[in-house]
Amino acid sequence: MSLGEKTLSFVETRMLHWPDSMFTYLKEDQILFSSDAFGEHLASSERFDDEVNQDVLMYEATKYYANILTLYSPLVKKLIKQVQDMHLPIKMIAPDHGIIWRKNPEKILEAYSRWCVNEGNGKALVIYDSMWHSTEMMAKSIAAGLLDKGINYKLVNLQVNHRSNVMCDVLEASAIILGCPTLNNGMLPRMAGFLMYMRGLRPTNKIGAAFGSFGWSGEAVKLMNTAMKEMNFTLVHKGLKVQYVPEHGHLEECVELGHTVGQALLDIKEGKEVEAVI
Ligand SMILES: Cc1cc2nc3c(=O)[nH]c(=O)nc-3n(C[C@H](O)[C@H](O)[C@H](O)COP(=O)(O)O)c2cc1C
Repeated sequence: MSLGEKTLSFVETRMLHWPDSMFTYLKEDQILFSSDAFGEHLASSERFDDEVNQDVLMYEATKYYANILTLYSPLVKKLIKQVQDMHLPIKMIAPDHGIIWRKNPEKILEAYSRWCVNEGNGKALVIYDSMWHSTEMMAKSIAAGLLDKGINYKLVNLQVNHRSNVMCDVLEASAIILGCPTLNNGMLPRMAGFLMYMRGLRPTNKIGAAFGSFGWSGEAVKLMNTAMKEMNFTLVHKGLKVQYVPEHGHLEECVELGHTVGQALLDIKEGKEVEAVI
């Protein structure tokens, strides 16, 4: 569309992340107005990427992708290819939300290219909640098992980590290990809520395992396994339940679980096929 001295081109970007989303390219100034893509929920008086702290910027860009766009990754992949095929010179990317990329627009394009294919960074997340620390003890022993295998991990206590921050780590993690005690024949509400949220965002390509302490019926592990299977995670362990406070032998089983997940990640790194056990 010609505006006289300026020319606009449009690329439909439906469901990224709204039904009527659209990119607009301003040819003469080589600016891509990218609607809801490549942005952040970052409000600052500075407007450009070279004016803000780079770590904060990339964290916020990751958080935006992880919490808003993960489920549209197949569309993002197509779109990135479409934009590449158009060979548009891009000097600046101006999204609807957040910072304008003028110094380094390639940085966010490269990040989106990586995020949309869910490559996995080889790292494991141990995400848990616990009332009286039994499940937490298990989490720490599982982490020790991962470390034995040389796997980088992060322990994430849902009591002090908001689900939207946890999703930043989920985005690139290769394994998700979930821990929760049983409460009223179910999971603790924070874990149930987190799983509901994560399921909606449809992360893919993850190794999974579950664990938790219980008193008499112990349903939580099965429920976490079911949720992960629904997300097509590859479960490499049948799940570990410990009645009340774990003793030394139980913690050794937790270390073993860490070894199992760690070995699966090493196998993937070597290009081997990893099979689900349940
Ligand atoms: C209010 C309440 C309800 C519980 N409901 C169940 C239950 O339905 N089934 C079960 O196996 N354990 C149940 N438990 C026992 C806990 O799962 C058990 O104490 C567990 O060791 C707690 O683990 P944590 O230290 O990681 O919080 C319940 C505990 C509380 C406080």
